[in-house]
Amino acid sequence: MPNSLIRSTGYWVPSNVITNDELVASYNAYAERFNAENAAAIAAGEVEEVPLSNSDFIVNASGIKRRHVYEKEGILDIDKMVPQIAPRPIDQVSTQAEFALKSVHQALERAGYTGADIDGVIVASSAQQRNFPGLSCEIQDAIGAKGFSFDLTMACAAALYGLHIANGLIKSGEAKRILVCSPEMMTCINVHTRRDVHFIFGDASAAMIVEADDGRPGGWDVLGTHAENKWSSALRSDFGFINRAERQIDPDYEPHLDQDGHRVFKDVVGFAPKVARNLMKKIDLEPEDVRRTWLHQANIRMVDMIAKRILGRDRTEENAPAILDEYGNTSSSSVVMNFQMHSDDMAAGETGVMCAFGAGYGVGAAAVRKR
Ligand code: COA
Repeated sequence: MPNSLIRSTGYWVPSNVITNDELVASYNAYAERFNAENAAAIAAGEVEEVPLSNSDFIVNASGIKRRHVYEKEGILDIDKMVPQIAPRPIDQVSTQAEFALKSVHQALERAGYTGADIDGVIVASSAQQRNFPGLSCEIQDAIGAKGFSFDLTMACAAALYGLHIANGLIKSGEAKRILVCSPEMMTCINVHTRRDVHFIFGDASAAMIVEADDGRPGGWDVLGTHAENKWSSALRSDFGFINRAERQIDPDYEPHLDQDGHRVFKDVVGFAPKVARNLMKKIDLEPEDVRRTWLHQANIRMVDMIAKRILGRDRTEENAPAILDEYGNTSSSSVVMNFQMHSDDMAAGETGVMCAFGAGYGVGAAAVRKR
């Protein structure tokens, strides 16, 4: 049974940045206009006033200061509050595939491979631009990879579910080298007209090349992977292919992103470290032998608490780095970006644990050792 290793990673973030102040100015202008236009109905108790947002609240409650976004103007335009993305003709690469390819090419380059060296492509992300053909099929074709390709979704934990499956396929001998990529265009999913969620997400794409150990040096041994779920509706995006049919019954139905932030916080802070610890138990890895944990970036207080429960010691920037101040929550790409940004300083033989958590709830964990 061959061991698997992460040969390389890649990530890409758009250069457009929205600061909290910019986001709040636009949201508040939208809220004030809505409240003025609906003043009579609000006074009569028929319509709910839209509450104002606040930059200090955002940074204190979440730790997020800025986010990088694919398209900025539409998000900040109070007549839109949604990124503007032109539909593309069928013979052009789709927007999300192009977005993914930026990180894929970097991962290939860092490994010294071309697409022809890959024999499986998994797109593992929160959502894909279309139902079929899979985004993975398009990416496989664009890079000239062989073998199979498929898409999977598991919200913010998706990349580690992709790694979990890639690890299994490699160990079973079904594949030799798998590309797992996580293109997350979360600002297209987010609802920028709701103050409790408008600040959370940013856009980013990440990729990993996972392969069978053929004795060459370099990369990170995958010591083990693990995934667990616990159903919850507390974080939910209802956009989907049935919306069109649902509007036949209720033409005003607007699918949206819903979150009970308090519940998600409490539930996930309890669940995520248990899953990581279950993995560690499975492979006899003691917390004191883990130099670093790379966590999904959702909220700085969650990162603090989850890191402490995995590592059995207080979080520091050294043992559990945070990147969400600059990027916000970039869903499943965040754990891979975090790993790439904060792993060069580790020595051969040192071990780290990745842990990603989110809607589902789904939690994925992976233990890796530098070769
Ligand atoms: N500006 C100002 N006030 C805001 C606000 C905003 N943008 N958003 C919410 N508030 C208000 C709330 O309405 C509430 O007011 P109330 O006390 O009058 O009801 C108050 O601030 C406190 O809100 P609360 O939800 O208790 O804040 P919080 O400290 O729990 O932080 C989150 C909110 C969303 C940042 C936090 O719950 C969180 O991060 N949860 C996890 C969400 C997450 O990570 N999701 C992705 C998982 S992968």
